[in-house]
Formats: sequence, C-alpha cells, structure tokens
Amino acid sequence: MQFSKFGEKLAGNTGIFQLMDDFSASLNSEQPMQMLGGGNPSHIPEVLECFRQALLALINDPHRFAAFLGNYDAPQGNFEFISALATMLRDQCGWDVTEENITLTNGSQNAFFFLFNLLAGEMPDGQHKKILLPLTPEYIGYTDVGLSENLFATEKPVLEMIDRRTFKYGINFDKLNVTGDIGAICVSRPTNPTGNVLTDDEIAHLDRLAKIHNIPLIIDNAYGTPFPKIISTDIQPHWNKNTITCMSLSKLGLPAARTGIIIADKPIVKAISAMSAIVNLSPGGLGASLATEMVRTGEILAISNQMVKPYYAQKAEQAMQWFDEAMGDTEGYIHKPEGAIFLWLWFKGLPISSQELYERLKRRGTLVCPGHYFFPGINEDWQHKHECIRITYSQSNDDVRTGIGKIAEEVKRAYREAKE
Ligand SMILES: Cc1ncc(COP(=O)(O)O)c(C=O)c1O
Repeated sequence: MQFSKFGEKLAGNTGIFQLMDDFSASLNSEQPMQMLGGGNPSHIPEVLECFRQALLALINDPHRFAAFLGNYDAPQGNFEFISALATMLRDQCGWDVTEENITLTNGSQNAFFFLFNLLAGEMPDGQHKKILLPLTPEYIGYTDVGLSENLFATEKPVLEMIDRRTFKYGINFDKLNVTGDIGAICVSRPTNPTGNVLTDDEIAHLDRLAKIHNIPLIIDNAYGTPFPKIISTDIQPHWNKNTITCMSLSKLGLPAARTGIIIADKPIVKAISAMSAIVNLSPGGLGASLATEMVRTGEILAISNQMVKPYYAQKAEQAMQWFDEAMGDTEGYIHKPEGAIFLWLWFKGLPISSQELYERLKRRGTLVCPGHYFFPGINEDWQHKHECIRITYSQSNDDVRTGIGKIAEEVKRAYREAKE
C-alpha cells in the first residue's frame, strides 16, 4: 500500500511513537520493568482521592452526569470550565482574559500540532516559516508535528557547570537570531527534558523579541504555574495578548482525560477552535467536566501547591541522591532540576551513543529516553545529542532506584570497555 506524503511523515517511526509504544509495552510486560522513559505523572494517592470525590459528586448529580457523557461541547470546548478558568486566571494571575481568550484541545500535544502548523510551514505568499526554539534540548513531542519539513530553528545553549554533579543550559541570547522566516517563538517552561525553568527576566526578554518582530511567543506551561506547579523556583506565570500560553490537566494527574488549554488572543482562539471542529468535532469534555468545580472553588490550586509540588520536589531530591551514590567517582552530570518530572543525565565522552545505551538498558528491563530526539532544529552533530538521556522520577521509588543503578552500571561498563 502506498501512503501519501502526509501519511509517510506521520505514520513513520518517530521518537514520540517509540516513547509511547515503549510505555504501553512496559505496562503489559510479564517481566518487571522500570519505566523511566515516558512522561506519565505519578499516581499520588491524595490527589487521586480528590479526583475520585469529584467524580462521585458528578455521578451523583443526574443533570451533570448526563451532560458529562452525553453531550458534544462546542469546538472551543466546555463553556463552564472555560468560564471558571477565565475567572481563576484573572484573579490568581492578574491576566486580562475572558472566555474568548481560551480554547480547549485533546491534550496539549494536540494544541502544538494545531499551533505550529497554523503559525509556520508554507505561507500563502510562498514563504516558508519556522518555529524558533530558543533553548534546546526541547520537548520530544514537538519534533514531528510539522506537516512541512524543516519546521524548527534553534540555537545551541550556553552551559554552566554548577558543582561536581550538576550543570545548567541557558539561552544563548547573543546568538539568538529572529530572522524574517520565524513565525513564532516557543519554549517549554519548565522545560522537558531538562527541568530548566526560564526566569522572569528571560521570559521578559523573549516577550520583547517576539513583540519587536510581531510574532507570538508560545509558552508551554504543561508543568508550570498556577497548576500543576511542578516547579521549585519562584517565578511568575506569563501572559499577554502576544503570548500563547498552553496548559494541561495531564501532569496534575489526569493524562487519560486528554485536556489541553490554550490561552491566547481572540483570533488565535477562533482559529484553533475552527481546526478542532475539523479534526475532532469538539474536544473531549471529560477532564473539563471533572475539573470545573475544582477550578471554581480553587481546589485545583490547593492540590497543586500542597500535594503535587512538594511530592515531586521530594522525588527529584531523592533521585539525585541515588544517582550521585550510584555513579560514585565516574563522570556523570545532572541538569539542575528546577521543575517538570525528569532528570536529564549527561555522560561526558560516553563511548557509545545514547541510542545504544537505551538498547542495552532495554534488554535489562530499564526503559529510558535516548537524548538525540530532543534536539529539533539542530542538524549539526553535537556531543550532547549522543551523550545524554532523559529519565523520569515519577515512577515508584523502587523502580527509580533500581533503574538508576542499572544506568550507572551500563555507563561504567561502556567507559571501561572503551579503555580496554
Ligand atoms: C512539555 C510538554 N508539553 C506538552 C506535553 C503534552 O501533554 P498532554 O498532551 O498530555 O497535555 C507534554 C507531555 O509530556 C510535555 O512534557
């Protein structure tokens, strides 16, 4: 059978497909596996209990229950949820938003497919526009969403060593070039895979650049503030009419609800809603219905601040300690985890590729994410592409500790073999 160009591009063997496929394979595997590769959030018992109570309240209200399962929403999404959210964002963040500034999607992955292809690719005047990613490594899920080739422009980051085990990337503002073929700037904040959280100053700088060049700034706030708040630095949420802020209910603990949220100027909201009608008729409403009361009452903020944030801060700290102990004197660095649910590990001078390390670990029952997928827009060879892997610490402590132990063993073996 012959596939179209569209089919070949989207049905190919992409990094995001490998990641999600590995994840379901590990869930169904008979052999115990440490699934440190994916981005699944933890099952936090207190948070699950809040969702269970919210679901019970919904089920026990016949009118709301009928609407929960029995209605299509408008292409913009569930209006009650959108309205509660607009109020919360005005009150909590001081953003000048109304219902007309918010649209929902089937997860924020769906939002990026729409946004990137809306703002970049082949333009009506024949020009080819790109999305500028000011900081790489960047989220693996962006890499293959472009319907046209060559969708990303980027610049290698600057690197700062913090101590004997930690380092941090930063945007290379001196080299960052917003050329005429850039259709939008996009950053994840916190950044997946590194856990970097751009400061308010860095965001203000990007905001200025975007405004000067009359292009939107997209902020992927999947782990950010005001919810789910998987952030350990003190930063302000950012939005204005030139910013497109994307949020999600997934990392709060509801990935199966597939609820993405776009907060943007009205023309963008209208455009995305129109695209949603073609692709989905309307976005799924289960997550929105479930979370409406939590947004109205502010419970979603309490869950984020009091349960989700401290839980992941503790997990990150613990995982760093296990990595340090397991590596001992062997060279191996961690990107300073300021947010999100990952450790980005750098094995300087690793004699095998990160793909080969992934394969060796997979054979031993530990799934990680090889680093080379996280560099959309960097075509040149760069050591960080081959020497880094991403792991998540959202899984059980046993799995994280065992997995980290096996990673250290395999890395040490690779260094040793190269010397022999
Ligand atoms: C930075 C980032 N953005 C977006 C997404 C997509 O999440 P979802 O489609 O579940 O909202 C993820 C998922 O891992 C992510 O890490």
